[in-house]
Amino acid sequence: MTKFLVTGSSGQVGKPAAEALRARGAEVVGLTRRGGPGAVAADLVSGEGLDKALAGVDTVVHLASGNNKRDLPMLRNLTTAAAAAGIRHLVMVSIVGCDRVPLGFYRQKVELEEIALASGVPVTIQRATQFHSLVEQVFTAQKFLPVVFGPAWSFQPIAVEEVGARMAELAQGAPRGRAEDIGGPLQQTVRELHALWKRATGSRRPGVIFRPPGKMSAAYAAGVHMVPGAAYGQQTFEQYLQSR
Ligand SMILES: NC(=O)c1ccc[n+]([C@@H]2O[C@H](COP(=O)([O-])OP(=O)(O)OC[C@H]3O[C@@H](n4cnc5c(N)ncnc54)[C@H](OP(=O)(O)O)[C@@H]3O)[C@@H](O)[C@H]2O)c1
Repeated sequence: MTKFLVTGSSGQVGKPAAEALRARGAEVVGLTRRGGPGAVAADLVSGEGLDKALAGVDTVVHLASGNNKRDLPMLRNLTTAAAAAGIRHLVMVSIVGCDRVPLGFYRQKVELEEIALASGVPVTIQRATQFHSLVEQVFTAQKFLPVVFGPAWSFQPIAVEEVGARMAELAQGAPRGRAEDIGGPLQQTVRELHALWKRATGSRRPGVIFRPPGKMSAAYAAGVHMVPGAAYGQQTFEQYLQSR
């Protein structure tokens, strides 16, 4: 039986990915720094505990992240150990348009994809659009301001449960290199998303929509971070807010 290791199994997308694999009858072990029920303890930055965590594993679903520069050593340690351990498939998540929006964090995502593809371990990379929680955070982060500022862009947010389910499906398939991008069901302007958030939270603070200058803003305004065509995700931002 194929054994799966899900790194970041306590995280936003790691948790539903591990749950989806278990629901599909797979043997799954999680990995976090502290470990716990169903998860081993290992630190991907230092590499401590990693070899032990990979023992007997066939497929790694890499969803651990510091959401910062530590992601590079984390993935380097993981791919080196995974290659040595003979891992047959490494599945990881990235961000739609990371090669087209000139943003440091996105450039790093491209570098992470390149590290994985060059690692010698058969890889599947799934780019996804922004999670619902990230869009919500844009609004909640401004709680001390009398208004809510937002850029004049659109987003196509997706549910982490749907990304997790997709990661599980890919992990049980053959390595594909780059999988087709996935996004949520609707492309909505920040003005529309803010109106939904206001209604759901009872906030009365008005939105102030502005167009930031520069190439990064132009890329977002052009929508390169979204997925044209039929949508993968089904849960809308409005439904996400209602479910909370
Ligand atoms: N937010 C978005 O809109 C979006 C969109 C597309 C893709 N993504 C990508 O999706 C990925 C997952 O994001 P997320 O929001 O699910 O992350 P998250 O909720 O912050 O979870 C991060 C996970 O990584 C683990 N972790 C952190 N440092 C670790 C270390 N040194 N060693 C081992 N485990 C470590 C954490 O567990 P412990 O803290 O318990 O160790 C936790 O389980 C990221 O790569 C992110 O860039 C995000």
